[in-house]
Amino acid sequence: MKVAIVAASGQTGTELIEQALAAGHEIIGLARTPENIKSDDPRVTKRHGDAFDEQSIIDSLEGADAVITSVGKRDLFDKRYKLSTIAHAAVLKGMHKHNIKRLLVISSTGAPRMKRDGIQRNIYLFLRRKYYSDMHDMEQQVMGSGLDVTVLRAPYLVEGPADGDYYVEEQENYPVGIKITRANLAHFLINELDSSQWNKRVIAVIGNAA
Ligand SMILES: NC(=O)c1ccc[n+]([C@@H]2O[C@H](COP(=O)([O-])OP(=O)(O)OC[C@H]3O[C@@H](n4cnc5c(N)ncnc54)[C@H](OP(=O)(O)O)[C@@H]3O)[C@@H](O)[C@H]2O)c1
Repeated sequence: MKVAIVAASGQTGTELIEQALAAGHEIIGLARTPENIKSDDPRVTKRHGDAFDEQSIIDSLEGADAVITSVGKRDLFDKRYKLSTIAHAAVLKGMHKHNIKRLLVISSTGAPRMKRDGIQRNIYLFLRRKYYSDMHDMEQQVMGSGLDVTVLRAPYLVEGPADGDYYVEEQENYPVGIKITRANLAHFLINELDSSQWNKRVIAVIGNAA
């Protein structure tokens, strides 16, 4: 399968490329600066894709069979809080244009809290409220697209191996202090690409040991 990875220059994007290649896929890697995509493998095609340049995302998805998105805000002082909804609006347009049906999205376990709690009492959630609201809106957007979408909510991401030591959580009452390694997040997504076990579902993956 030819898999487009949006934000292929990021830490999870890098893991996704390695594991997708190992599973026999070809990659179209999208990044604001394509040279920052770390792989030198000839099966990786590097293209320009900036969420704030919609056409670049639309054009760069050409030829893909499926899309995985891993867009995240690097700079916490960047006030463009709608990054996720803007990025996914472009991705959905590109997928419709190129007739791509399968989308795997990384969201956050913080996203549903905005819906449930309303005014946040937790200081961390309060500080991150615009980021999580953006994620929450993005989830609605992609799940309403009619495409074959899996939304994967990630907890706090840490370094560590892809050892398969994680579980899928379908409920929104996530335990406190949850984490997963980026390698296991990628592990889940590449398996899901092949199995579509969680198609049209919103779930979380949580590490047992991380
Ligand atoms: N870190 C966590 O603990 C955590 C927790 C829950 C969910 N998540 C989510 O998990 C995913 C992976 O996180 P990560 O920490 O591995 O990511 P990361 O290393 O911070 O990478 C973020 C990626 O987003 C890209 N990006 C930023 N702005 C962009 C724009 N305007 N257009 C296109 N791409 C843009 C970056 O590209 P550049 O290389 O050009 O900067 C980079 O490739 C993200 O969706 C994040 O929101 C993370």
